[in-house]
Amino acid sequence: MILEVRDLHAGYGRSRILHGVSFAIDKGEIVSLVGRNGSGRSTTMKAIVGLVRPDSGSVRLDGAEQAGRNAYEIVRDGIAYVPEERRVFDNLSVHENLVLGCQSPRHGIAAWTIDRMYAYFPRLLERRGMKAGSLSGGEQQMLTICRSLLGNPRVILIDEPTEGLAPHIVARVVEVVQDIRKNGVAVILVEQKLTIALRISDRVNVVGHGQIVWSGTPAALREDADIRRRWLEVA
Ligand SMILES: Nc1ncnc2c1ncn2[C@@H]1O[C@H](COP(=O)(O)OP(=O)(O)OP(=O)(O)O)[C@@H](O)[C@H]1O
Ligand SMILES: [Mg+2]
Repeated sequence: MILEVRDLHAGYGRSRILHGVSFAIDKGEIVSLVGRNGSGRSTTMKAIVGLVRPDSGSVRLDGAEQAGRNAYEIVRDGIAYVPEERRVFDNLSVHENLVLGCQSPRHGIAAWTIDRMYAYFPRLLERRGMKAGSLSGGEQQMLTICRSLLGNPRVILIDEPTEGLAPHIVARVVEVVQDIRKNGVAVILVEQKLTIALRISDRVNVVGHGQIVWSGTPAALREDADIRRRWLEVA
């Protein structure tokens, strides 16, 4: 397994949010974290990448312990994070945003290049000289994902990539997520739209009250109305 999360505890100030999250992902897999609002999906991602410092537990990237390290070290060593609130450098051009994301490729993973990103998203090529702040929400989402991929990560965490996007852009983003997997990168995905999460994931973890309360294949979750009712559907 390229990334192993074991018994992760974390929170904000006095509020403890994660109570022992454990799961693992291998190269070339998409593993989704699904759950209700506030269940701890984003916090799990932040704790993995070191933006929230874990109280205890372990995050191993290719066997090397990450828990307790700084976010910039973790990202530099190969875990990329695309947050819910897509962050672009507003006053820099699209192209400059992409250049800032570039890092040398890692062994065993086909390199992502700026040209490849432009081929994926011709829209970004058309807008390469425009300020990133002037892009639409969907375009900013694409730019954020592209910039993260240019870091040539081994694992990428993507939090709600399709949120608020027009349907044709959703389809494009979904395609890219699947291509990332094909390149041998491990993708951890938080996706609110269950049909999308089930369609593209290899395995699904259901998060409830800061723990993984169920895990299995999309097919198994489709069959299990009880788990869906208990942990996913709005009461
Ligand atoms: N910066 C923060 N400070 C304090 N509490 C926070 C902070 N961020 C999140 N929380 C709390 O932690 C809990 C889990 O939040 P988290 O963001 O992990 O949920 P989520 O599963 O991603 O759901 P959603 O994205 O719908 O909010 C919630 O109760 C939330 O209010
Ligand atoms: Mg969230």
